[in-house]
Amino acid sequence: MKFKKKILSIGAGYVGAPSMVMIASKCPDYKVTVVDINVSRINAWNSDQLPVYEPGLDAIVKKTRGRNLFFSADVEKQIQENDIIFVCVNTPTKTFGAGAGMAADLQYWEKTARQILENSQSSKIVIEKSTLPIKTAQAMERILASGNGDVTFDVLSNPEFMAEGTAVSDLENPDRVLIGSRETQSGLAARAELVKIYSHWVSPEKIITSNIWSAELSKLVANAFLAQRVSSINAISALCEKTDADISEVARAVGTDSRIGSKFLKAGIGFGGSCFKKDILNLVYLCHFYGLPEVAAYWESVVKINEYQQERFIANVLQSMFNTLAGKKICVLGFAFKADTGDTRESPAINITRKLLAEHAEVVITDPKALTNAAMDLAQDAGKIRYVEDPYQAAAGCHALVIMTDWDLYRNLDYRKIYKSMVKPAFIFDGRNIVDQRKCFEIGFNVFPIGKPALSRL
Ligand code: UDX
Ligand code: ADP
Repeated sequence: MKFKKKILSIGAGYVGAPSMVMIASKCPDYKVTVVDINVSRINAWNSDQLPVYEPGLDAIVKKTRGRNLFFSADVEKQIQENDIIFVCVNTPTKTFGAGAGMAADLQYWEKTARQILENSQSSKIVIEKSTLPIKTAQAMERILASGNGDVTFDVLSNPEFMAEGTAVSDLENPDRVLIGSRETQSGLAARAELVKIYSHWVSPEKIITSNIWSAELSKLVANAFLAQRVSSINAISALCEKTDADISEVARAVGTDSRIGSKFLKAGIGFGGSCFKKDILNLVYLCHFYGLPEVAAYWESVVKINEYQQERFIANVLQSMFNTLAGKKICVLGFAFKADTGDTRESPAINITRKLLAEHAEVVITDPKALTNAAMDLAQDAGKIRYVEDPYQAAAGCHALVIMTDWDLYRNLDYRKIYKSMVKPAFIFDGRNIVDQRKCFEIGFNVFPIGKPALSRL
C-alpha cells in the first residue's frame, strides 16, 4: 500500500507510543513508525505484553500494528525515511551540574536533534512533543540549521496533554490540541500539515494554534495549574483536620462555583507522576533564570505543600499507632501514582514506604499493575518488603492498611473479611478517601481519612 505521509516518533514511552497509536488508528492512510534506543521496549511493543498498561490501548495496537503502525529500534534508518518526526524522548529533571534538581535534563533531546540532522537527506518537520523549557525550539532550530546541505527543518511545538490511565480517551477526544509554530511562510505551512493530521478526528475549534513560545510555555503552565489545585486542596485538608470540617464537603461547595470547577479537587497523599513535580521545578528554574524570584517562590510552594502532605500523612500513621511502628506489619494498598496505570514514577507511595521502613515496620505491598515497578523503585530495600498481588493475602496478619492509590478495586474490597484477618486494633489510613469510612469504622477499624475527622475508638 502507498501511504500518503510517513510519520515517526522518536521515543516509545508513555507519551510517544500512545500518541502514535492514536494517529495510526485515525489516519489509516499515513504510515506511523515508533523508534526507541531501548530495544527491549520496542520488542515489548511488538509483543502481546505491551510495556505500559493503559486501558483500551491493547485493542487499538492489535488493530493497527503491521497495518500502518510499526515499532523499530533502527532510529537512523527511520529518520531517513520519514517526513514528519515527533520528538518524544524523556526530559527528566537534571541530577548534576548547574540547575541540578530543577532544570530539565536536555541531553536525550539534544542527541536526538543531532541524530535527526545527521540522518536527514530530505527536508522535515520536527515536532516537540516532550515537555520542554520555553525557548528549546530555538536551540533545536539552531542545531538543525548547523548542517551544510540544502535540507531544511521546520520546528513545531505540539505538547501532549493526555493523562496516564485515561490516555486512550484523552487522545481520542482531547479538550484541545495545541500547535505552535514560527509565523513564517514555511512555519505556517508546517503548522497546516500538522493540523491536517489531527483534523482526521479532532474538530477544528479544538485545534488551537499559537506562536511556538506560547505553545511550549502553555504545557508547563497547564501542569503547574493542575498541580496547584491539588496542593491547594491538600493544604486545606490540613486545616480541616484541625477544625472538624470535611474536605469532601468543602471541595464540593467550592467546586460547584462554575468559575472554579469541580475537577482536580480530591485531597489525598499528594500528586505523583512523571510530570507535575518535574514541570513545576522546571518552571521555577526558568523564573529564576529570567530574574523573577517572587514568581519562582510562588510556584515552588506547590511542590513544598506536596511534600508537606506526605510528611503529615506519615506523622499521623506513627502517632495514631502509639508512636511506634517497629515490628508492626503494614499493608500498602496501591503503589501506582494514580489508578489505572502501572506507572510509579514519583509515586508518593515510594517516599511513604521508605518512611515506614525507616520506622522498622514490616511492609507488604499490593497493587494490581505496579508491583514490578515497585520492586525496582525499592530495590535497595529488597528483602525487607513482601510483594503480594492479592489484597486479601497482603492484608492478612497486618496491623494497618495504608491506602496509596485510588484503584476502584480498593473501594469494593470485603473489608469485614480483611478486618477479621488483621491484628487488632486494626487501622485504615485512607490516603485517597476512597473507602466507605463509616462502614469500615462500624466493622471495627480505626479509620484515619485525609481532611476529615478520624473515626477511632482509641
Ligand atoms: C498530568 C496531566 O493531567 C496531563 O495533562 C499531562 O499531560 C501529564 O501530567 P498524569 O500525571 O498522567 O497527567 O496524571 P493526573 O491525572 O494529572 O494526576 C497527577 C497526580 O495528581 C496523581 O498522583 C493523582 O493521584 C493526583 N491527583 C489528581 C490528586 O491527588 N487529586 C486530584 O484531584 C487529581
Ligand atoms: P515519557 O513519559 O515522556 O514518554 P519515557 O521515559 O516513558 O518518557 O519515554 C521516553 C523514551 O525515549 C524512552 O523509552 C527512551 O529510551 C527513549 N529515548 C531517549 N533518548 C532516545 C534517543 N536518542 N533515540 C530514541 N529513543 C530515545
